[in-house]
Amino acid sequence: MTADLSHLDGEARRILRLNDKGGYTVPTAGLYPYQWNWDSAFAGLGFACFDVDRAWSELETLMSGQWENGMVPHILFHRPDPGYFPGADIWGTQDAAGKGAGRVASSGISQPPVAASFAWRIYQRDPEAGAERLRRMFPGLMAFHRWFMAARAESGAVAITHPWEAGRDNAPDWDAAMARISPEGVAPYTRRDTGHVNPRMRPTKEDYDRYIWLVQFGRERGWDDAAIAAESPFRVAEPTLTFTLMRACRDLRLAAGVLGEECAEIDGWIARLEAGAETLWNPETGAYDSYDLRSGQLAGAVSNASFLCWWGGLDDRRSRPTLARILDTARFALPSFDPAHPKFDPLRYWRGPVWGVMNMMAAIGLAEQGLSTEAARIRADTAALITENGFAEYFSPEDGTPAGGATFTWTAAIWLAWASPSAGEV
Ligand code: GLC
Repeated sequence: MTADLSHLDGEARRILRLNDKGGYTVPTAGLYPYQWNWDSAFAGLGFACFDVDRAWSELETLMSGQWENGMVPHILFHRPDPGYFPGADIWGTQDAAGKGAGRVASSGISQPPVAASFAWRIYQRDPEAGAERLRRMFPGLMAFHRWFMAARAESGAVAITHPWEAGRDNAPDWDAAMARISPEGVAPYTRRDTGHVNPRMRPTKEDYDRYIWLVQFGRERGWDDAAIAAESPFRVAEPTLTFTLMRACRDLRLAAGVLGEECAEIDGWIARLEAGAETLWNPETGAYDSYDLRSGQLAGAVSNASFLCWWGGLDDRRSRPTLARILDTARFALPSFDPAHPKFDPLRYWRGPVWGVMNMMAAIGLAEQGLSTEAARIRADTAALITENGFAEYFSPEDGTPAGGATFTWTAAIWLAWASPSAGEV
């Protein structure tokens, strides 16, 4: 007999309401007091389980921050909050007004483009309520993807200009690229994150100095994509952006189908991304990896993003043995970094902990490609982590220790939309 977990559905709904600031949802109070791009799209998916109208307004508020060049920023600073660093003043995006920045104060980089995928899922929950809203959002989503393909996909795979753009801030994938930066000229600053969360669970000072150095680098170039692409020492093609964009293009294509829109441009993007993904394949690790466009080196990193290939829509047989090895070694799937690697750290953010959002995408992709046993394992582990340890930001893959922020929006969202027994077959 399966346990009755319906009280957790209520708790998850309560968390979404708690973090709802009116039209947008913060990831968690205190640590992240603004609207984050991909967190918000996950929030929309969670809201769709009980309030479809609110789900659409979450995405609409996100898209209201879109720049004229199509970029949708990784943070929208709707209301100033002294508890977060670096805020709008440090990003200096108002100087990038020529790009249409500034309607909503924002950061100058983007994040994994899952918005189209979740708009499509929200639409499917209630096509009648969603048809008009999907139609209105479609051009913005097209522009967002077009911007990614033009500004970040010169190698076919999608590249980041800052670790925050991948959403995997301190992943070992960028250690070598980050080490090449000497963070001279970084203005003195005070971190705020370590006032909210145990520093052991957060990036190091060395990482932070470089994060801020890269923000200053972009600001000094007026957030000009071409200048940053030409001059920055940091440019890494990587699997989170590549596979989420590949999936988002496929979902946007489905949306185009019901809206009677043209698909040829989207088909071209999908073909380029599929070819680009090959440049991330690492035969030595047997997994999709990150590729440093400056050094021409693969990172040798087996991460949870490596296993988004199925979510991207690839029927990838080569990755199966590596996934099997990771599932065998981790008590709780999926660790964000290979537990057998010396750099693995079970509590430090993207260097080991389990993240529910990555699990959801990996498992749905696996199930779609017929790997239902692996998908069920990942889902059961995610449900166990949340049931036993609450709606934490992330969890130790060794013993489930909850880590980072608590009452976390996207953990609540993936519970409702996927991990909860009430989500049914997904
Ligand atoms: C951290 C995560 C990132 C997320 C943000 C807000 O920076 O690495 O993926 O979007 O927090 O939750």
